[in-house]
Amino acid sequence: MLIRDVELKHDSPKEFFFDKHVKFLNNYAKNKDNSYEQIMVEYLKMNGIYWTITALKLADSSIENDVRQEIIELIRSCKHPNGGISAAPKHDPHILYTLSAIQILVSLDVNLESSNPEESVIDVNKTVEFVMSLQNEDGSFNGDHWGEVDVRFTFCSIASLALLKRLDAINLDLAIDFVMKCYNQIDGAFGCRPNSESHSGLTYCCLGSLSIAGQLHRIDADKLGWWLAERQLPSGGLNGRPEKLPDLCYSWWVLSSLAIIGRLHWINKQKLLCFIMACQDTETGGFSDRPGNMVDPFHTLFGITGLSLLAHEYFDNSISDHEQNDQDDCIDIEKLSKKIHKVNPVFCMLDQTINKMSIRTQRLS
Ligand code: FPP
Ligand code: ZN
Repeated sequence: MLIRDVELKHDSPKEFFFDKHVKFLNNYAKNKDNSYEQIMVEYLKMNGIYWTITALKLADSSIENDVRQEIIELIRSCKHPNGGISAAPKHDPHILYTLSAIQILVSLDVNLESSNPEESVIDVNKTVEFVMSLQNEDGSFNGDHWGEVDVRFTFCSIASLALLKRLDAINLDLAIDFVMKCYNQIDGAFGCRPNSESHSGLTYCCLGSLSIAGQLHRIDADKLGWWLAERQLPSGGLNGRPEKLPDLCYSWWVLSSLAIIGRLHWINKQKLLCFIMACQDTETGGFSDRPGNMVDPFHTLFGITGLSLLAHEYFDNSISDHEQNDQDDCIDIEKLSKKIHKVNPVFCMLDQTINKMSIRTQRLS
């Protein structure tokens, strides 16, 4: 099989530039400029705030009160009469941004239960109705009223309702039957729709859905574990599917999937740590998809969540022969685990927040 990879430079960064990343993320959270670049990414605004707030929370950085207030006001202005939430004011509502908005509100400890419409940021009943309206007869979900079907939207719908404690509003059994139709027997992974190519981003979505529904027994975890472990390339980085280049965001899509099925230790930790560290910009802070590329908040979140999973969830402490050779370059994971909080591998939020809400997820061992 064709292997496409990058080569890490010998002088790639090996330490974690914590303060620079916090500064980079805070600048992004406060950014109010109307530059061309900002307008071009407006369609991602709600996601951008979720990526930034989650990364800051994982780095134990407090969110300033005026920033918190502005974010809440922005979410209010992205609400639509059908209960859905959009990426930015005057954009169309979509389940992708609805989940991000709910994740932000939960992370910022906003009371979603308030019956006073003046106080409540979103109308929970309306938002639940929006999610219900997206489910099709075969159990699948559309992303919005235009009708595109994808298991990403199944995960976003199930995760949104789990955070709102309203999972009973949809036909969960049928939703999971559709997820299982996207399962590929040949490699144990999942595609975006039935008979589609296996992809680790969509595998995360399907495992997340199965985990929330308590249905993980329906997969072959060993076969899937193999396929996911084979995503690691000689550089240590992970790709999303065979023959693709490594990309830092797959340190989330692949690692969280391995964590959910209890097989995180099937990849080489030190090699991946080196790849993640090499994706930092040591001057501006932030992480990029591959070493030397432009940093952005999306890859910054997934660099930090990757490190969090390696620091808190990699249970096998024995060092393989392969890793032994890399010991000179060893990155101190103990030190990292004190700097970065534990991430929940299903919700991609602070694990503490999910536990505090008593939201249950299933994990395999
Ligand atoms: C890669 O996409 C990633 C995916 C397909 C998964 C996306 C998952 C969600 C939007 C669900 C919500 C996520 C979280 C973390 C709560 P890509 O288009 O970059 O794939 P490519 O690398 O193959 O181009
Ligand atoms: Zn990426």
